[in-house]
Amino acid sequence: MKVGIIGVGTVGASVANILRDNKDIITERSGCEIEPAIGVVSNLNKKRDVTIELTDDIDAVLNDDSIDIIVELMGGIEKPYEIVKKALVKGKAVVTANKALLAYHRYELQDLAGDTPFEYEAAVAGGIPIINALRDGLTANHIQSIRGIMNGTCNYMLTKMINEGVDYDTILSESQELGYAEADPTFDVGGFDAAHKLLILGSIAYDIDAKPEDILIEGIQDIAPEDIDFANEFNYTIKLLTIAKKIDKKVELRVHPAFISKDEMIAKVDGVMNGVSVIGDKVGETMYYGAGAGGDATASAVIANIVDIARRGKGSPMLGFELDNSEDLTLMSKDE
Ligand code: HSE
Repeated sequence: MKVGIIGVGTVGASVANILRDNKDIITERSGCEIEPAIGVVSNLNKKRDVTIELTDDIDAVLNDDSIDIIVELMGGIEKPYEIVKKALVKGKAVVTANKALLAYHRYELQDLAGDTPFEYEAAVAGGIPIINALRDGLTANHIQSIRGIMNGTCNYMLTKMINEGVDYDTILSESQELGYAEADPTFDVGGFDAAHKLLILGSIAYDIDAKPEDILIEGIQDIAPEDIDFANEFNYTIKLLTIAKKIDKKVELRVHPAFISKDEMIAKVDGVMNGVSVIGDKVGETMYYGAGAGGDATASAVIANIVDIARRGKGSPMLGFELDNSEDLTLMSKDE
């Protein structure tokens, strides 16, 4: 199968390089050879750490009938929205890591995809296979709640502010240098990136088609030095939590900073790491921990989708369903 990678930045380069470096196991596990055939970039003069052919002609790639899978890693919303639509209309399988695109357009794109694979494991919590866990591993359960730390930038900043007393501005610049922050870091510190991820999980676990403006989103910008002193004094930490919770026939979705006892397992998710706790009605609590960002970790999830598409065959329906769609759940309003 031939793969076209739209956007060859950190993650796109890792996808191409892992497909090359781990070709033996990937071929064996997918049952066919997967070739990163071409990468699309906007600036051909920029030096990139890849050996694949590059072009700046997106349409040529979308119109190339030999390309089976489009991997969308360009970021933004409007342009990738058009590209993903074009690819799906042409019957190409699509894998994306674009959480903002999905937060606004997942249902529509999933409908458009129909039986054509449209997958996005890497969009939530990077390398942690949380979408797979919800849809597959926990499929016997009604999901009661999801509580996660799903923004590495905020978690890194809060960890340093609380454990080392580093001030907000210094640590924001440092986390931008680390390369985990969004192009506009307001998406991170304002809680929007975490909200996009929460909305994707909420749509899968509860079939709730909500938009960011429908839910409570509070970032970490207003955490005061007194909050940090209080946390340290009482053996608490502060985490930016993403919470999805079923209460009767309603689902509460919210993002905000919260005090958590340092004894709780989720409080131990420090630095840029992500952690997600999912409670199912039969399994009880399950916990997932790992790198939520970074080239290789995110590419690991992208390639899991590619291999799955290859295994099932292009054109067969995959995981495009929601867990609790039979229950007719509705979103709890922000004021409830
Ligand atoms: N800016 C995001 C984060 C990148 O810090 O978690 C991964 O989605």
